[in-house]
Amino acid sequence: MTILQVDAPATGRRHTRARVLAKREVAPRHFALTLSNSEIASTARAGQFVHVLPHPREDELDESWLFDPLLRRAFSIMDAQGDDFEVLFRVEGRGTRSLARVEVGEYLDILGPLGNGFSLSQASKSAILVGGGVGVPPMVFAARALHERGIEAQMLLGARSAADVLCENKFTSLQIATDDGSRGHHGRVGDLLESALEQTLPDAVFACGPYPMLRAIARICEARQVKCEVSLEENMPCGIGVCNGCVVPMRASEEVLEGDDYGRFRRICVHGPACDARDIDWT
Ligand SMILES: Cc1cc2nc3c(=O)[nH]c(=O)nc-3n(C[C@H](O)[C@H](O)[C@H](O)COP(=O)(O)OP(=O)(O)OC[C@H]3O[C@@H](n4cnc5c(N)ncnc54)[C@H](O)[C@@H]3O)c2cc1C
Ligand code: FES
Repeated sequence: MTILQVDAPATGRRHTRARVLAKREVAPRHFALTLSNSEIASTARAGQFVHVLPHPREDELDESWLFDPLLRRAFSIMDAQGDDFEVLFRVEGRGTRSLARVEVGEYLDILGPLGNGFSLSQASKSAILVGGGVGVPPMVFAARALHERGIEAQMLLGARSAADVLCENKFTSLQIATDDGSRGHHGRVGDLLESALEQTLPDAVFACGPYPMLRAIARICEARQVKCEVSLEENMPCGIGVCNGCVVPMRASEEVLEGDDYGRFRRICVHGPACDARDIDWT
């Protein structure tokens, strides 16, 4: 199969392929893949993502597969070092079910790295990272990048239950909250953020997770006047700014209206997924 190499200087993204070096089931229905592609690994920044084209297995082929794999699936880059990078995904629907069956040695068709990545330079001394569910993987990359700059990063991790806690051994300073109380604080990860901000205010908060969690984090930070950047995991049908399937309503400030050509709506595959939480219209 011929794979196109499309260079796009503005983002460094490429249409390429990556070899599967390792696959691990890290929690029920959650798989981590180590992928080999030096161009993606060497240019990726924390908060960026890759768009992966799922391939049906032989026994999955039926007529509906003629249309369904048309759309790629977005996954945050969990970390990137040397020639390799990692992603971690939860099996949700048809694409991720198929991806979970990929074998070591196979190649995946990938577009990336995509998106803007976190503005980690907003933190000069300290940062708080907040991750919920499959919003935790990008925080692994962010924590390492901050650590390398000598910045203290405290990780607040939210999960449904103890079985769903992801990547805990990747963080040096970690607090956990679970919805059912089976691990750590019984409640929302936002409660941990409230307590942490009562102790000390960091330079910035970076968050990724489900929309209601991000809205709560944004409100907590706004009340304390702490800078907050959220990474939105909206549906991203194309991932490169052409379909408008990922638009998010923004507060109508002049700065925001000038920032994109879709009025109050911003395509977050190109102007995100990391956004200043104050720019988003959370209503
Ligand atoms: C930037 C980003 C980073 C992400 N990072 C991770 C991660 O690290 N780990 C992880 O587990 N998940 C992550 N996700 C979520 C992940 O992309 C979805 O869980 C995945 O696409 C589900 O695929 P599926 O085949 O299992 O589900 P399916 O429901 O079969 O298919 C989902 C596909 O349909 C499209 N779609 C669904 N509904 C709509 C709609 N209403 N309009 C347009 N398109 C639609 C989606 O864009 C996607 O391509 C991320 C999402 C984004 C946007
Ligand atoms: S996903 Fe198509 S424009 Fe953003």
